[in-house]
Amino acid sequence: MSAARYMPIPPGAVIPGALPDFRIYVRNPQGAYTLWAQEGNKVTAEQLGRLTEGGYTAIYVDIEEQFKYDQYLEDNLGSILENRAASDDQKAEIFSRVSTNVVKGAFETSLGLGTMDRGALQRTQKLIENALQFIQEAKSLQALAKLIGHDYQTYAHATKVLWFTVSFLRLNQGILEQIDPAYPDFEDGRKIEMFRHCAVGALLHDIGKSLVPRAILDKADPLTEVEWEVMKRHPLSGLAMLIDTDIPDFVRKAVLQHHEDYDGTGYPLGLEGTAINALARVIRIIDVFDAMTSRRPYKDPVPPLKAAQIMIGTPEESGKDADLGLTGRDQGMRPCFDRELLKKFIVFLGDVKLGA
Ligand SMILES: [Fe+2]
Repeated sequence: MSAARYMPIPPGAVIPGALPDFRIYVRNPQGAYTLWAQEGNKVTAEQLGRLTEGGYTAIYVDIEEQFKYDQYLEDNLGSILENRAASDDQKAEIFSRVSTNVVKGAFETSLGLGTMDRGALQRTQKLIENALQFIQEAKSLQALAKLIGHDYQTYAHATKVLWFTVSFLRLNQGILEQIDPAYPDFEDGRKIEMFRHCAVGALLHDIGKSLVPRAILDKADPLTEVEWEVMKRHPLSGLAMLIDTDIPDFVRKAVLQHHEDYDGTGYPLGLEGTAINALARVIRIIDVFDAMTSRRPYKDPVPPLKAAQIMIGTPEESGKDADLGLTGRDQGMRPCFDRELLKKFIVFLGDVKLGA
């Protein structure tokens, strides 16, 4: 049996008592794979313990059963993220995988419908419900920091924007008051609900890109003027897709306005200042930060601190965009952010281990 047939999975993905409907394998020191658990069999805490004692850091799934594994992760995400036996890194890896799959599903099922597929929206809401606690935790920030500098991919980008947004809002709840002045008087349950809505908005902010042709989305070379015009329709497409959903108005506004600039030079409406929805202003900052600090086919990642300096317009950094290999796709370097929010975001970055 070839090694290429097997995909390593973190042991923490298997929760005691769960009944995975896929086979699980272990790999011995000689590199041979042997069946460890049959599908449909309950895996006990003792079995999992023996695995850890045996020094196994990974277990394996047959590539052909990958979709079953992904379904299992999504169905059990809440329990997995609460599993004490799983490390934070394992949880972060699992959360990213599920979230990326959910966003991918939302893009693919909505394609051609012109509206957000109902099932995809429910999956998104369930994901947020199951993961919100984990992504709010301070320790998850460390895991998030490790993802900085990775390749930029639309679905993974959405996951990082969600993660940053939730962590940032948790530490700056005054922003929620800017979104809804009644926020401080909300009951706890309603506060959490509002938080969840913000998270859904962050994850789906680019859903309108599902209507942008792939040839434009994936283009490695700079976009032509015509292609840019098509690309710039995505906030409006996103709004249109969410019209018939139960998503609250402020989230729809955030999706529509996440490319509006504070100085009025953004799109699609050219709104200015606090006329731009506060959640949109937050996503604007985080969206640009993640794009800058990610690897693109046409540029290396900008280190987080440097990205923060450029965004805030530190004099010695301005006007050097060309040196950094940044292109028109990173126009967020201009002073187009809500300065107060940007300052808060930079303070927040101090809480994240920025790494290299
Ligand atoms: Fe966007």
